[in-house]
Amino acid sequence: MIIILLGAPGAGKGTQSEILQERLDMMHVSSGDLLREHRKRGTSLGKVAESYMTRGDLVPDDLVIAMIVERLAAPDVEHGIILDGFPRTGPQAAALDEALDTKGRRVNAALYINVEHDVLVNRLSGRLTCRLAGHIYHEVFAPPRVPGICDIDGAELYQRDDDKRETAAKRLEVYFDQTRPVIEYYRERGSLCEVNGDQPVEKVSQDLVDCLR
Ligand code: AP5
Repeated sequence: MIIILLGAPGAGKGTQSEILQERLDMMHVSSGDLLREHRKRGTSLGKVAESYMTRGDLVPDDLVIAMIVERLAAPDVEHGIILDGFPRTGPQAAALDEALDTKGRRVNAALYINVEHDVLVNRLSGRLTCRLAGHIYHEVFAPPRVPGICDIDGAELYQRDDDKRETAAKRLEVYFDQTRPVIEYYRERGSLCEVNGDQPVEKVSQDLVDCLR
């Protein structure tokens, strides 16, 4: 199975990916996490990506496509994959189809988590992320048991630099301008399923699983 999760920044793609990978025993691959990892390691990709990410812009297609195609070639994704944050542009969607086609695979489901703009702003401004493994919390909607500490691995929680007000606003603008058309790409192919993302986390997960059935 190859599943892609679509939705705006803050829609809950990362939150739902964590749940779905457990429930469905599939590998979660997030383009944002991969890029943040490159930045942390100081690779040449990480250095180029940094300026785009801190501005809230998309990293150029050729770089992101090469990174994902390389990741898709690894043996751990043969069983199944949940792609989160990719594709985000028409060329990325076409490149994904092409890369999968060469392996006789295809996108089985594109799950679109739909959330209104104002809700997204509140989610991004209160998000807290685990420095060790990227586990996701929210100051109000999903607070950790001990403030500032990840429940799962005890690591420090921090605010992503691109969640600061101005950058978050830019990311939402970029999403509505450049990524929304990708939703139509999958709708036209008959693989899109839309769920209401402004519901409790467990209800959204259940709706996503129902989509897959
Ligand atoms: P990326 O890391 O992919 O960020 P994003 O798509 O902007 O998505 P987010 O991680 O912000 O949100 P999410 O939908 O995962 O929400 P979450 O579950 O955390 O990308 C970062 C940057 O990398 C981009 O700006 C770009 O520069 C670059 N990049 C990445 N991929 C790229 C690509 N393909 N091409 C080019 N550039 C690329 O939830 C958010 C908050 O809401 C959390 O606090 C959570 O606790 C809370 N929450 C979640 N669900 C609920 C709920 N149901 N109810 C209440 N609260 C909830």
